[in-house]
Amino acid sequence: MKRKVTKAVFPVAGMGTRFLPATKSIPKEIMTLVDRPLIQYAIDEAREAGIRDFIFVTARGKQSLEDYFDSAPELEKSLRQKGKKDLLQELKRTDMDSGAIAYVRQKEALGLGHAVWCARRLIGNEPFAVVLPDDVIHGGRACLADMVETHRETGGNVVATMEVPKEKVSSYGVLGFDEDDGSRVRATSMVEKPAAEDAPSNLAVIGRYVLTPQVLQNLNRKERGAGNEIQLTDAIAKEIDGETGVYGQRFEGQRYDCGSKAGYLQATIAFGLARDDLRAELSDFIANLDLSAGADAAADI
Ligand code: UTP
Repeated sequence: MKRKVTKAVFPVAGMGTRFLPATKSIPKEIMTLVDRPLIQYAIDEAREAGIRDFIFVTARGKQSLEDYFDSAPELEKSLRQKGKKDLLQELKRTDMDSGAIAYVRQKEALGLGHAVWCARRLIGNEPFAVVLPDDVIHGGRACLADMVETHRETGGNVVATMEVPKEKVSSYGVLGFDEDDGSRVRATSMVEKPAAEDAPSNLAVIGRYVLTPQVLQNLNRKERGAGNEIQLTDAIAKEIDGETGVYGQRFEGQRYDCGSKAGYLQATIAFGLARDDLRAELSDFIANLDLSAGADAAADI
């Protein structure tokens, strides 16, 4: 019997070194796009895909993430007294039902595969989603919802994919594939961070997965891969020739790599421009930017 996908794992135990010194005290997932933390976008997408149980794989120094999902009675009382209904409504979206959210610790950052493995007891023997909050997708139908649908139809493992320029493939897991109906491909190989000349295609894997419990069994072997880390990609790749296979899902909307500085800044601008209350002022600012002045200022630092 095929089981519904109701659980999602959010691995947030990485050190976020690309955002040091900020990430010395602020978890990367709490950094905001306009006024909402990255994690909120990930939660909203998961909810749209039917996820009801949220499992966070955390590490030391991530308490503010747990606080973010806690209720804030004093703040709510004060907003109620001041009649700020819109803000109260906005706060409600961050609420999690008691028992809907669970935290497990990854004691050592041994890689994404290891982080997912840390959640194995909470996942149990059922299909599950994995969402990396630093990959933010703007616009279009929720990527994860399409992936859950593909899993429902095929029973297979599903990874989100997008075409990237050939010179960038070495930053991603990359799929080789045969069948391709335009939105879904069937994978024939999957390689983590290949050199451009070894890459099977330019179809890169980004941070959304719907996986079968067999992948957790594969992670049990704790095999090290690229960068000497326990790679999720390797554990998924083992299923390509398995019973259910691996599918790549293309998605609508624009993906921003908010784990990188340039991606994060681009997302900030895109999300700002999408807001009715900010668009005019922000576009005016961008239109009047003196780009050469920016370079001069940088040279002075
Ligand atoms: P990244 O490769 O972006 O690593 O992890 P990072 O530590 O977050 O950031 P940098 O590269 O040092 O700047 C991708 C995702 O996997 C999680 C991260 O939290 C992020 O969501 N992760 C990675 C873990 O939970 N544990 C790990 O051991 C590694």
